Amino acid sequence: MTAPATDRNTPLAARAGAPLRGRADIPGDKSISHRALLFGALATGRTRIRGLLEGHDVLATAAAARAFGAAVERAADGSWCVDGVGVGALLEPAAPLDFGNSGTGARLVMGLVGGHGITARFDGDASLRKRPMGRVLSPLESMGARVVACAEGGRLPLTLQGTQDPLPISYRLPVASAQVKSAVLLCGLNSPGTTTVIEPEPTRDHTERMLAHFGASLAISTDSDGARRIALAGRPQLRARDVVVPADPSSAAFPIVAALIVPGSAVTIPGVMVNPSRAGMIATLVEMGARITLSDRREDGGEPVADILVEAGPLNGIEVPAARAPSMIDEYPALAVAAAFAHGTTVMRGLSELKVKESDRLAAVAAGLAANGVEVRVEGDDLIVEGRGGRTGGVPGGGCVATHLDHRIAMAFLVMGLGTERPVIVDDSSMIATSFPDFVALMTRLGADISPVAAAEAAAAAGTAR
Ligand code: S3P
Repeated sequence: MTAPATDRNTPLAARAGAPLRGRADIPGDKSISHRALLFGALATGRTRIRGLLEGHDVLATAAAARAFGAAVERAADGSWCVDGVGVGALLEPAAPLDFGNSGTGARLVMGLVGGHGITARFDGDASLRKRPMGRVLSPLESMGARVVACAEGGRLPLTLQGTQDPLPISYRLPVASAQVKSAVLLCGLNSPGTTTVIEPEPTRDHTERMLAHFGASLAISTDSDGARRIALAGRPQLRARDVVVPADPSSAAFPIVAALIVPGSAVTIPGVMVNPSRAGMIATLVEMGARITLSDRREDGGEPVADILVEAGPLNGIEVPAARAPSMIDEYPALAVAAAFAHGTTVMRGLSELKVKESDRLAAVAAGLAANGVEVRVEGDDLIVEGRGGRTGGVPGGGCVATHLDHRIAMAFLVMGLGTERPVIVDDSSMIATSFPDFVALMTRLGADISPVAAAEAAAAAGTAR
């Protein structure tokens, strides 16, 4: 696959160099940041959010919250204040809502619109316009919402007409998706009855935790087949609450893998969320032999957090079971890079959901590894990486990676280049600002060598990629 470099792209190159050392302060969790803004908009009173991720994705959700009538402001101390309008009282947005690159923002807000008597138009960038929305629209339609117009295949741009009296439904998730679960629950908030979501495989539970934090009444139980059942009583009075957003484990994954693969590195990362529904990556890396130490485990803003120390060292290939995928779904690009540096084969099973992220990540990761001299195979929904740990020539590098508007592809391969024999180029880095605006500066402070390259050089490297 070659990189479609254009004038608007900002290619970067990463090169091996000094060990990475010091402290990495990771920005706030993206999932929690979206939810804090939306729950703040649905509550009555003033919600204060500390540690909000100020990435493009979350700022698009802040704009949507404003369009619904909430007042959303950044205070001088860096915290954010949301003066909400209350469940059932969202205003109709006067203009189309543009979610940029953000599937989470678009899908969660569809839930809100679906459960209110308002109509909104949803749009996004080229990546978001390709992503499936039917998974959210279908349950919302059974609750009474109506898709007035949409692009082919139920995609963005689309116009959704909500209902002021959403039907309370019981919905069994056909895909392991926290976004779908959250959209149904958000729609059910304004329903006169109880909305139930059944998830056969547990997904991130931030919506449930935050609903409870804002005063909603939820009953969570386990069915006899092991499925998780979440029952939400409709029309609660949500009350404004303070929210502290912990560091995002999905962003922390990049300096963690970088510190593991660059010899001599030792990096501490304070206050990382270690909610079990998000902690699959750490468990997997530890199984691979990674030197990762968690300390000062505590609770912050209703979420478990810990400080993490990562030290470089050898990694071994392992098999990662499909059941673990929901707890580390956004971390596979970084994990695949770690696997390239491991001794032996790593098999990552059950990655079908990776195909519908900001890009087809299964294909993008495989292409990026291959472009940098790593033997890799996709077999059905499985990714198999032949690690080059201990092999002569290490991990070659020297390729240019097509990022397809996907922030995690860009960051994962920049991390890779910090440990390869030759530099790794990514064809674009502008979209890193969706989730981790400070990524390059933070990695540079740790000692990483990441620098701009001319678009022509990126195009030439893409042309010569093996
Ligand atoms: C998210 C859920 C996941 C994840 C995304 C954030 C959320 O998506 O990939 O980055 O905040 O609910 P899916 O629900 O599609 O698995």
